[in-house]
Amino acid sequence: MLERDAPAGTGRGSRTPENVPVLTVDGLVVEHRDRGTGEVFRAVDGVSLRIDAGESAAVVGESGSGKTTLAMAATGLGPRGAGEIRLLGHSLATLGRRRLRELRPEVQIVFQDPHGSLDSRQSVRSGLREIRGLQRERTSWIDDAALLERVRLSPDLLDRYPHQLSGGQAQRVCIARALLMRPRLIVADEPTSGLDVSVQADVLALLREVRQTTGAALLMISHDLAVVRSVCDSVHVMRRGKVVESGPCETVFTDPAHAYTRELLAAMPGARWRARR
Ligand SMILES: Nc1ncnc2c1ncn2[C@@H]1O[C@H](COP(=O)(O)OP(=O)(O)OP(=O)(O)O)[C@@H](O)[C@H]1O
Ligand SMILES: [Mg+2]
Repeated sequence: MLERDAPAGTGRGSRTPENVPVLTVDGLVVEHRDRGTGEVFRAVDGVSLRIDAGESAAVVGESGSGKTTLAMAATGLGPRGAGEIRLLGHSLATLGRRRLRELRPEVQIVFQDPHGSLDSRQSVRSGLREIRGLQRERTSWIDDAALLERVRLSPDLLDRYPHQLSGGQAQRVCIARALLMRPRLIVADEPTSGLDVSVQADVLALLREVRQTTGAALLMISHDLAVVRSVCDSVHVMRRGKVVESGPCETVFTDPAHAYTRELLAAMPGARWRARR
């Protein structure tokens, strides 16, 4: 059996109830101005979704379909227009800056480029020390060596700088930094697409394990359906700013309702899925 992390106890700051959905997005619209033509367009166009505590949901779609824009808006980090977003039970529209800042540790983001996410001037240890300095109580549950072991890294790496880490190791450090906060929601935006194929599977296995051991919900963004299927319970298929199909992975992958989903599945390397006509 997998060892579970210590349950949330004291010292985690003000908490929101455990039973509210970690994220609900209702009719979200986000507009951007096209850098070339200067015209305003809807990068996210009326998207609704919900992620419950401990659930793992994916947003898939081709490049430019609006996945990152949706994730940034949903976590309060990017611009948002019409629609309602509730993060950990709080409406982003009415949440003041201070309260949003307090919620930040609960929502951790892992980006595609691990080296770009780490400060090149900081060793792994000093990066962790900085986070601990900002969130002393919240991060006291585990020491650095044990934290690295949680992401299957040797504590010997603590004194390395980012350029001395492989892509896979650097991404594990990013995941460790996220875990240190004991978040309620982890958003992983293409977490393996910047990595060598040989280490992608290891990082995905780690994300699966993180889900099981921490109980954190996961919002995984990917254009790779195989990645999504191996980690997530449910999937939202996005095309040109809209969600065209949502459902449990098993259903969407075996019996896709939308032609675009069928296209994505057919484009998967070694796709076994064949169109039902
Ligand atoms: N800050 C911005 N200003 C203007 N346009 C933007 C901005 N950010 C994204 N866009 C545009 O909005 C659309 C959606 O972009 P987004 O990054 O959300 O797509 P994505 O699905 O994450 O793509 P990818 O798979 O390539 O990461 C694209 O046409 C993109 O060029
Ligand atoms: Mg993106």
